Amino acid sequence: MDDFVGVWGQVLRLSSPWRRSALAYEVYDWEGCPDYLGFRMYLSFLALNEFRNYGHLELSLGPGLFLFYGENAQGKTNLLEAVGMLATGSSFHASSDREVVNWSAPDHIAHLKASVKRREDDVELEMVIFDPAPPVQEGVQPPLSTVALPANTPRKRVKINAIPKKVIDLIVLFAPTDLHLVDGSPEERRRFLDRSLCQIQPRYCQALVQYRKVITQRSALLKRIRDNQEDPRLLDYLDEKLTALANVIIFERQRMLAALNEQTSGLQETLSGGREHLQIVYRTSFKVDAAWNMAESLQHYRTQLREVRKRELVQGVCLLGPHRDDLEFLVNGINMLTYGSRGQQRTTALSAKLAELAYMRVCTGDEPVLLLDDVFSELDMQRRRHLLGEVMRHEQVFLTATDLSSLPGEILGQAHIYEVVGGEVRKAGL
Ligand SMILES: Nc1ncnc2c1ncn2[C@@H]1O[C@H](COP(=O)(O)OP(=O)(O)O)[C@@H](O)[C@H]1O
Ligand SMILES: [Mg+2]
Repeated sequence: MDDFVGVWGQVLRLSSPWRRSALAYEVYDWEGCPDYLGFRMYLSFLALNEFRNYGHLELSLGPGLFLFYGENAQGKTNLLEAVGMLATGSSFHASSDREVVNWSAPDHIAHLKASVKRREDDVELEMVIFDPAPPVQEGVQPPLSTVALPANTPRKRVKINAIPKKVIDLIVLFAPTDLHLVDGSPEERRRFLDRSLCQIQPRYCQALVQYRKVITQRSALLKRIRDNQEDPRLLDYLDEKLTALANVIIFERQRMLAALNEQTSGLQETLSGGREHLQIVYRTSFKVDAAWNMAESLQHYRTQLREVRKRELVQGVCLLGPHRDDLEFLVNGINMLTYGSRGQQRTTALSAKLAELAYMRVCTGDEPVLLLDDVFSELDMQRRRHLLGEVMRHEQVFLTATDLSSLPGEILGQAHIYEVVGGEVRKAGL
């Protein structure tokens, strides 16, 4: 399974102070950000039943670094996936929820539970996932269901403090991967921005959903106009919509990047032992000028759309807008996508993720739990040491590794260490 890095936090989105401050449009304030330990939030208990390759697991947790090690295919990623799933309501790996139900679960049901300690209260989370049609495996007798559930049984149920909730009521902060943020596709980089901004900015989320609809409609319209089935003047209406929504999205992305850039350089410096500086540049497909006010931006975007209209009609796709934008990661001025070593690309992705986490913390006032899955493989010992030193500052961190020898001894001394073997988790050394 893919590696991922994630942050986890913020239970019950409506109670978030950012929900109010985001609407009021406050400017983030790093200075006003209290010390890391000022934001308390951690899992104190986790229980899994028939989740992936886990039969039954109960784990007492607490603040600090939790290190899960073991050979490949033992269940390390699955464990972090479960935490992420409780946090966000859905998996960042599985294409459908039912995938996470243990293939041989007698009732085709997975059960997840967690206790979360927060500054102001404790929260009990519970999730039940039902797989009506488990995959048939060669040589394995399919499980016989002991309960007959009606066809319309919901596939997933969530309870918060024993009260049924819609999945959307769960937790807002979760940012999976990406170690492939730097060397992956532009789409992954846009997802990085969109996912964070959607979690902390309702206005962004609304604009993005509408924007995607407009792009779909407009692409279809371009094709119909090209085939002489529609009047080209119809495009003007969608251009208005596109530019207005694009303006919101671009503005928010720029604002987030400005905040991230205040952190990334210091982080990259820490992780690289003082050798590297990082700057993230937002490359927009629209020409953008910081000197333009909103009306001017809209005007310029419309003009640019008219300029590419012929090309758009030939190709039948929308060529300008946030769906075409990208990020560039410059380390000491050099583009990491083209020239970065694997280790540098990973370090850069980690700096960006840690900066994102700090941004979310400032925006929401909660300290998210940090999930780091197998992030050490391409890093040298120095970078591992620096990364661990950095993540140790977080309230609670879940970390996986294939072997302990790859980790600096001074960190191991401070970690809660568990071995994962075939879907079982054992306290190391016991
Ligand atoms: N729904 C499922 N039921 C049972 N086993 C599963 C299910 N989904 C994945 N697995 C198995 O879980 C094992 C452990 O996966 P993973 O957590 O990714 O290992 P790792 O320790 O390398 O991170 C894999 O062998 C995979 O086949
Ligand atoms: Mg794994």
